[in-house]
This record gives sequence, structure tokens and C-alpha cells, in this order.
Amino acid sequence: MGIGHRLFPLLLILLAAAVQGKEKGPHRLRFRHDSGTFKVVQVADMHYADGRRTGCEDVLPSQVAGCTDLNTTAFLYRVFRDEDPDLVIFTGDNIYGADSTDAAKSMDAAIAPAIDMKLPWAAVMGNHDQEGTLSREGVMRHLVSMKNSLSRFNPDGIEIDGYGNYNLEVSGVEGTSLDEKSVLNLYFLDSGDYSTVPSIKGYGWIKASQQVWFQQTSSRLQRKYINENPKQKEPAPGLAFFHIPLPEFQTLCRSNINCIAMLVDLVTMHNGRPVVKESERVGQLVLPQTMRKR
Ligand SMILES: *[C@@H]1O[C@H](CO)[C@@H](O)[C@H](O)[C@H]1NC(C)=O
Repeated sequence: MGIGHRLFPLLLILLAAAVQGKEKGPHRLRFRHDSGTFKVVQVADMHYADGRRTGCEDVLPSQVAGCTDLNTTAFLYRVFRDEDPDLVIFTGDNIYGADSTDAAKSMDAAIAPAIDMKLPWAAVMGNHDQEGTLSREGVMRHLVSMKNSLSRFNPDGIEIDGYGNYNLEVSGVEGTSLDEKSVLNLYFLDSGDYSTVPSIKGYGWIKASQQVWFQQTSSRLQRKYINENPKQKEPAPGLAFFHIPLPEFQTLCRSNINCIAMLVDLVTMHNGRPVVKESERVGQLVLPQTMRKR
């Protein structure tokens, strides 16, 4: 989101599901053997630009001096060290294109802590990522090409709006009956930047072509999960990540700051298992970040 009526910058630390489960290739995401958990750190709205030359915004007047993008970098290192995530998800406005001299360089710097710490990561774009030297397509291609990136450009062979629509499967714990199954499905959607419909002002949204892809992918995964051995009674949980909140999010949150806590509850209740089913979609469930740049 952007200047004006943006939501709070977003950082989500999501402790997902305890599920028993086995293991495979090096890039395969799976629940941990020791704890039975899979932890995602979500980072949004870094608004990264030119590193030490780009000052912070939304900090106290007394904190302005000496606060730059490098503070965001230091913050990410601290969070990653403390949380030891299994996956990092960057959900857009990763860079602030307009303030950035070189979009690819800004993106490299923004994501660097995850790469440096050899964490698997995935990203979607926000509304500001393409405002610099790269187009939306160019930004997404860059994200896909970066080291340890699990980001994908778009599904093969179908017409779809946007760039960076893809899904990731998280397998059960190695050595268990679920180690070949995707016990948690992650979806990544490009929610666009701004409306191009003259009668509708403001931000973009997820288009019908993307919804169709999501529904088909989700049904396919659910059928597989339920029907293939070992057969399951209920669908595996799913989470969708995208930048621009759904209108429902805004309705819920308009008058009530506790909506954030409530949405987090929604996901964390039920024995620590995300309760969000694949028929529903959740974008940003968030805790306010301590600082942000512009
Ligand atoms: C930003 O980082 C500098 C250098 O470490 C530090 O002195 C300053 O307090 C940080 N600012 C904030 C707001 O954290």
C-alpha cells in the first residue's frame, strides 16, 4: 500500500501448524522433525531504496537522524536470528521504486539478509516495487532469478493477470506417513498496483483469471490430499499471500484495531493449526513493524 491511506506496515510472524510428518530434496519445504512446526516470517513494506542514503519514515523525530534502510537490514537479521524461520515471505513494497536509483540493486539489498542466512524465501510485489528502473514484469523476473528464491513468475501454459502467481507445498515431517503429502499449501498472488478502471479509484486487486487459477490449484491439491494414500478426511490448510488487502479486511479493521489480533487468532487457533481453509483467502495478518522507510 502507499502513502495516504496505507495500512500499518506489516510484519507477520506466523507460527503455523504442528503436523506430524518425512523429507526429500534440499529445497523441499517441510515441517520440522524436532518440533513438528513450520515457521514463516512475513516481511512487508520494507520500502527499500538506496541503503544508507535513504532515510527512515514513521520514526520519532528524535530517531530520524542516523536511521536509514540499513536499520531495516539490521532489523531483519535480528528477527531471522531470533525466529529461525523455515521460510521467509516478502509480501510487497519490498522496494520503493521511486526512491531507488537501481531497482535490481535495491531488491538485492532488501532481500540480502534472507540470502545471506541461507533461508528459503519467496516474494510477491506490492504497488511500489515497479516504480523505479524495472517494470512489474522485470521486478518479478529479478525476484525469480535471485539466490535461494522460491518465487515463480507465473504458472506455465495459462493466461493469467499479473506477475508472480504461484504456489508452494509444504510436506509433512520426514519419516512419517505424511512426508510425501503437502500438509500446508501456500499461495502467492499478484494483487496488482493501481486501478486502471476510471470509475474505480485507488489500488489494484486480484483478477478473475487469478481466482480461477487459485481455485483450480486448490481443488487439485485438496483432491490429492484427501484421496491419495494415506487418505485424509479434511483438506490441508492453505494460506494466501498478497499485498493489497481484500475489501473484507478493510471492513473488519476500519473501526477496530483489534481486528489484527483477531485475524491472527483465526490463524493460530485450533491447536496451533491454521484454521483458514483453502476456500478462504487471507492476505496480510499482521503486527505493526517498528519502523519503516520511504
Ligand atoms: C539505526 O541504526 C543506527 C546504527 O546502528 C543506530 O544508531 C540507530 O539508533 C538506529 N535507529 C533506529 C531508529 O533504530
